[in-house]
Amino acid sequence: MKKQLFAASLWVIAFAACKTKEKTTATTAKRTDCTNTAYTYTADIKPLMDQNCVRCHNTNMKAGYNLGDIASVKKAGSNGYLLGTIKHESGFMAMPAHAEKMDQASIDKIECWINTGMK
Ligand code: HEC
Repeated sequence: MKKQLFAASLWVIAFAACKTKEKTTATTAKRTDCTNTAYTYTADIKPLMDQNCVRCHNTNMKAGYNLGDIASVKKAGSNGYLLGTIKHESGFMAMPAHAEKMDQASIDKIECWINTGMK
């Protein structure tokens, strides 16, 4: 009887461990799914730049970027600085400077815009 109980609890533990593992796999699945997205500079990206970046990066070309201008945004999109700075990756200055990190939905939008050819 004791032996059976022991076996039963082992099974419960194993089952619970399995469940936990499943859950982690699901949450670590690829975050940024750009399938079926069609973000454009004018409709989606420019408003984010205007709201978060242009007060510092404008015609003054701070750090070499006027983020109110598509040419500069594309340059930062191509050389990796746009994503590196807004995702606060190591090796990049965290942007927007002196402000909260942008919300994840906005960051995802910018990442998808870059990954789908910056139209
Ligand atoms: C409060 C002002 C401010 C805001 C807002 C701001 N930046 Fe910056 N940014 C700076 C300053 C200051 C630097 C460093 C300039 C220098 O090198 O002297 C900088 C540097 C950068 C660089 C170059 C980073 C590097 O490592 O060389 C990039 C790219 C950049 N910013 C992108 C952005 C983006 C994208 C946004 C909006 C999400 C943004 N910034 C918002 C002030 C700002």
